[in-house]
Amino acid sequence: MSLDQFLQDLDRDIRDRAEWGAVADYIPELGRIDPAQFGIAVALADGQVLTAGQARTGFSIQSVSKVFALACVLGRIGEQLWLRVGREPSGDRFDSILLLEQEKGRPRNPFINAGALVVTDEMLTGRSPQQALAEVLGFVRAAAGDDAIHIDKAVARSEARTGHRNTALAHYLRSFGNLKAPPDHVLGTYVHQCAIEMSCVQLARAGRVIAGLDCAPTLLSKVKQRRINALMMTCGQYDGSGNFAFRVGMPAKSGVGGGLLVIAPGKASIAIWSPGLDGWGNSQMGTLAAERLAEFTGWSVF
Ligand code: DON
Repeated sequence: MSLDQFLQDLDRDIRDRAEWGAVADYIPELGRIDPAQFGIAVALADGQVLTAGQARTGFSIQSVSKVFALACVLGRIGEQLWLRVGREPSGDRFDSILLLEQEKGRPRNPFINAGALVVTDEMLTGRSPQQALAEVLGFVRAAAGDDAIHIDKAVARSEARTGHRNTALAHYLRSFGNLKAPPDHVLGTYVHQCAIEMSCVQLARAGRVIAGLDCAPTLLSKVKQRRINALMMTCGQYDGSGNFAFRVGMPAKSGVGGGLLVIAPGKASIAIWSPGLDGWGNSQMGTLAAERLAEFTGWSVF
């Protein structure tokens, strides 16, 4: 069976199964989205992009943006970032504050919210929030080769109004001296970065630079690609990362908008979207689709 035929069958199977999970209602704008949706796009090394389902529908990439923010910051300051943030899985929820006190304000990794706030703060060093956002949006547009990618301001406003946990995390980080910019600048930049809207096709194309595909624009060194993939594998789905590695075996990053960027290094960049989430806050049907795709293609790195 061809990969294209497999994707069409997968789309039908996912819709038949219809165990959609629950949308993220702690961001009210995302809570209004119909969970019964599914799309997938697979960008291959030769430049082809295969799709099935709602692959051209825009969605809020949310925490998937943390991969691109990290890529920008590693490009700018490199290894110094690790003085401020670790690279170990936390085993806690993405928005947990628990370890932050025990570990004196140094977040476990750049993908949990506390760590992502530090990365955003680093982007703000010597830059205004507008400039920092232009940098991350510019990176994503260049990676995807698509200038139409934009920020959904209504989603950003919605999270800004209700993001009390992130506000707590930012001030807590600041109390340890691990946030340099004013917390409201960091939070404002962060919610806009998370509110980048992309389709599966756009996200799969942007992920080509992380996958190191032959057709990808050169934006990231091989070493940085390896490091980002290692962090995606160990920390990309938070306290669900072990389960995801067990089922899928590829580096990936999830977002509470239901997006999933999955990397088959050197082979493919895969974007999956289904807005209903599982108990870890990761796309429920998206994870199942990634598992099926890994079985079909043999793209597990193990
Ligand atoms: O900070 C938040 O809570 C959201 N803007 C992003 C969280 C997220 O996507 C977690 N991922 N599954």
